[in-house]
Amino acid sequence: MAIERTLSIIKPDAVAKNVIGQIYSRFEGAGLKIIAAKMAHLSRGEAEAFYAVHKARPFFNDLVTFMISGPVVISVLEGENAILKHRDLMGATDPKKAEKGTIRADFADSIDANAVHGSDAPETAANEVAFFFPGMNVYSR
Ligand code: TYD
Repeated sequence: MAIERTLSIIKPDAVAKNVIGQIYSRFEGAGLKIIAAKMAHLSRGEAEAFYAVHKARPFFNDLVTFMISGPVVISVLEGENAILKHRDLMGATDPKKAEKGTIRADFADSIDANAVHGSDAPETAANEVAFFFPGMNVYSR
């Protein structure tokens, strides 16, 4: 199994709920290492650029406004099969549809305030890690 790196964002709703540690514990419990981390309050321009792939979607403006509503925790996770493992820990985009015991089922209130972001494929992981941690390679060894 490949060692991968993926980008995680703990979104403003989860930071406001004071569950950063609980979410980090789930990453660590699943064997994912936090190899880079920073807290940031994104500007509108940064959030728009990060979510540029969703620019044409009807929820784009609300998503950007939500993402800049408070600080976020941006991390790079590393481990075997990290991209899929992280997505499994997160649960479905809509917390109402997320499996019990996932981060979104336990901590998110709605599809637009859904606690966490995670890269969904190797290409997006590469782009997203580079977006927030310039110069950092997605390949570990
Ligand atoms: P998406 O990439 O489809 O989901 P995921 O975060 O699970 O990879 O969408 C990105 C974010 O956009 C999602 O986390 C929350 C927001 N969003 C909405 O607000 N409404 C929607 O109907 C969808 C599909 C997404």
